[in-house]
Amino acid sequence: MKEMEIFKGLENVPIKETVLSSIDGEQGKLYYVGYPIEELVEYSSYEEVCFLLLNHRLPKRKELEEYVNRLKAERQLPPEVMEILSELPSKSPFMSVLRLGLDLLNVYDDEAEKNDEESRLRVALRIISRMATLAAVLYRYRNNLEPVGPAFELPHAANFLYMATGRKPSELEGKIMDAAFILHAEHELPASSTASLAVASTLSDLYSAVSAGIGALKGPLHGGANEKALEMLQEIGSVEKVDEYVRKALAEKRRIMGFGHRVYKSFDPRARIFKRYLWELLNIKGDRTLLDIADRLEEAVTRELGSKGIFPNIDLYSGAVFHMLGLKKEFFTPMFAVARSVGWIAHVLEYWRDNRLIRPRAVYVGPPPRRYVPIDER
Ligand code: SDX
Repeated sequence: MKEMEIFKGLENVPIKETVLSSIDGEQGKLYYVGYPIEELVEYSSYEEVCFLLLNHRLPKRKELEEYVNRLKAERQLPPEVMEILSELPSKSPFMSVLRLGLDLLNVYDDEAEKNDEESRLRVALRIISRMATLAAVLYRYRNNLEPVGPAFELPHAANFLYMATGRKPSELEGKIMDAAFILHAEHELPASSTASLAVASTLSDLYSAVSAGIGALKGPLHGGANEKALEMLQEIGSVEKVDEYVRKALAEKRRIMGFGHRVYKSFDPRARIFKRYLWELLNIKGDRTLLDIADRLEEAVTRELGSKGIFPNIDLYSGAVFHMLGLKKEFFTPMFAVARSVGWIAHVLEYWRDNRLIRPRAVYVGPPPRRYVPIDER
């Protein structure tokens, strides 16, 4: 056992083949089933990206219409679940309550344990659709507001924004929310997708796999960075204070939120798209402060850490965009989970086609075998 090499954090260790996404970390490129995310954000929709990730091809018009309607048909939560959600403590961590809410949907879904292809796809769409309603309902309850029922005329992301804010989004807001969902949909095997796969590899069920993904995304090294990045921008407060902030953070060996990535050693392409939308939203609002601070931060951090391959990641700008859409910070990571549910599920369905129980090893470095010592002789 001693001679086995340890790959800490499974860094650069491939555990499956996939067609779902490819990341060019050096060039800062991301593709979903070969399509550049820039083109999917421009021309596609979250619903169409769900079809792409679950079927590995783009839909024909009729197929997409049917998919959109199937997702709409699943938006409502069972009344028993709504009842329990209204009783949950509003101060508990949002991601813990989201995970509990998903587990409630699990126990009220009589197809949850079926493992034939057809049932699995029905459960997949049900989870993707209801995760949005669940997060929005929890957001309303936690802010002492009555839940807002789904608006069936709205597409998935715009309806999510409507159910959370109670206000029909503008065309631009709806477009930006749809882009945010597409950009958060899938990203190969971060800790959350790996956690989902480990659970699924035992032939457990889709709900348990997604629940594991939520648990992993809850951690601040993975989810939550966009919340912290927005707090950082607000704490810095003005462009003049950026350089001092960076100098201090680096001197204290602190991680600067929204920067760095295990795979991207260049600008995260998703950050570029969010940066453009932030610019559009701030121009409407007429106050560019957040963007000016983020720009100066990008300059200062890449000047100091660019040689280490540390550049802005998706979280530097996504929090500011969600803030400009009128959403509270506590909602940012749950929204990430809502959008990423399709990526977790797509990896699980893909892995199940050639399943292998995930069971790594640990190299033993403890004491040699020895006899038990009675307690009075210790
Ligand atoms: C996401 O994997 C995914 O795809 C995730 C994600 C997805 O879509 O699923 O892209 C979403 O999680 C984006 C990342 C969000 N997290 C943050 O923004 C938190 C801040 N970022 C860092 O914690 C860090 O960059 C990680 C965790 C994201 C990645 O770090 P690694 O690959 O584990 O790098 P490392 O810890 O080995 O650091 C290497 C060096 C260290 O310095 P030295 O000890 O070598 O001197 O780089 C430094 C680190 O201190 N470093 C940073 C830094 N990130 C790395 N220094 C300051 N600020 C940072 N943000």
